[in-house]
Amino acid sequence: MRVERPPFSGRRIVLGVTGGIAAFKSIGLARELTLAGSAVDVVPTAAAFEFVRPLSFEALTGRSVLSDLYAPGDPLLHIRLAREADLVLIAPATANFIAQAAAGMADHLLGCILLATKAPVLFAPAMNDRMYTHPQTQANLARLQEIGYHVAGPAEGLLAFGERAGPGRMIEPDELMEWAARSLTGETPLSGKRVIVTAGPTREPIDPVRFLGNRSSGRMGFSLASAAWRMGADVLLVSGPSPLRTPAGVRRIEIETAIEMADAVRRHLNRSDVLIMAAAVADFRPVSTRDQKIKKQGDSIPEIVLEHTPDVLGSTMSLRKPGAVVVGFALETENPIENATKKLRDKRLDLLVVNDAGEPGAGFEVPTNRVTLLHASGQREDLPLLSKDEVAERILERVAQRLVAGE
Ligand SMILES: Cc1cc2nc3c(=O)[nH]c(=O)nc-3n(C[C@H](O)[C@H](O)[C@H](O)COP(=O)(O)O)c2cc1C
Repeated sequence: MRVERPPFSGRRIVLGVTGGIAAFKSIGLARELTLAGSAVDVVPTAAAFEFVRPLSFEALTGRSVLSDLYAPGDPLLHIRLAREADLVLIAPATANFIAQAAAGMADHLLGCILLATKAPVLFAPAMNDRMYTHPQTQANLARLQEIGYHVAGPAEGLLAFGERAGPGRMIEPDELMEWAARSLTGETPLSGKRVIVTAGPTREPIDPVRFLGNRSSGRMGFSLASAAWRMGADVLLVSGPSPLRTPAGVRRIEIETAIEMADAVRRHLNRSDVLIMAAAVADFRPVSTRDQKIKKQGDSIPEIVLEHTPDVLGSTMSLRKPGAVVVGFALETENPIENATKKLRDKRLDLLVVNDAGEPGAGFEVPTNRVTLLHASGQREDLPLLSKDEVAERILERVAQRLVAGE
């Protein structure tokens, strides 16, 4: 089933496939790009045909695979493809092709397209780790970035033949889709802005094996980090324990306690343009943590005395960069709007996202959310039930508007 989604709908993508073992993954990638609504022209190098056949691509994209620079009947194929493309994506990109592109060589169709296009160009390197770390390859990759091309990955992990686990593996198609989405989105008010997103729960230790925690999964914060990165931001995700995969392109700092979260935010806040506090930070923590596991002793029940944790938003207010946009989250179980309005004012927020924990499909441990947005101006927006990814996009649209208004 075709599930069209912006920014892929109606876009033209040249998918360059070069002669590496990871070429089989580009078959899945061609399928994902097509399902998302793009017209995908697959342009393999001659060596790529040693690894994959055109038929798989043609069946999945519904378009002819193109590789012949001198194909009869279409002498300006390379110029047409270059001009019509919204994105040129090279996946996998071999060491050889990276060297050719760094030198501007154009002895085949893909090389000519690269030189003739004005579209964003994204490389996904894939090779043996020694080939990748070779100073020549590193210099070539640096040159590609100087030219303005984007380089996604590589990842670390098992390489071909399963024998080594160094850098060189092509990043997976789902992550490459995120990179492609960022390239296709183009310039936004968030481009180049530094964004901190906090996410997930905190854990306040009681003893070495027990803690006070909460039900936050981290999903809302991870969706926000991912959406901010797709909109061009440089994103730091400060996350409590969460099994979720770090979104593409996002730098993640892992913390456990509210104090560690406040420290991490404090260290990076003065350089940040946007702070989004989506984490469910504990309000209380045990006054002391036992060194040893508390033992069960007869009927006696241990007493755990609690104290307040530091207020991350309050305690870091003075560190905010002038003009920084600050977004808070409030999860309320009673009088949500009344309590949230007070928080918006007390914490000097630009936007407060209010979750009503009692709402079906909203809050913790579910992929959807129904939120109300309270703006510093007093405006109130009740959003419908949406996926957390969609909620994240709506929130970031408001953040983008604030950034533009503040310029
Ligand atoms: C089995 C096999 C696997 C290969 N895998 C890779 C690879 O993953 N990455 C790479 O850079 N080169 C790899 N090569 C070498 C390339 O195929 C070779 O450099 C070729 O000239 C690349 O051509 P192209 O860049 O025009 O596609 C591999 C070669 C063989 C025989």
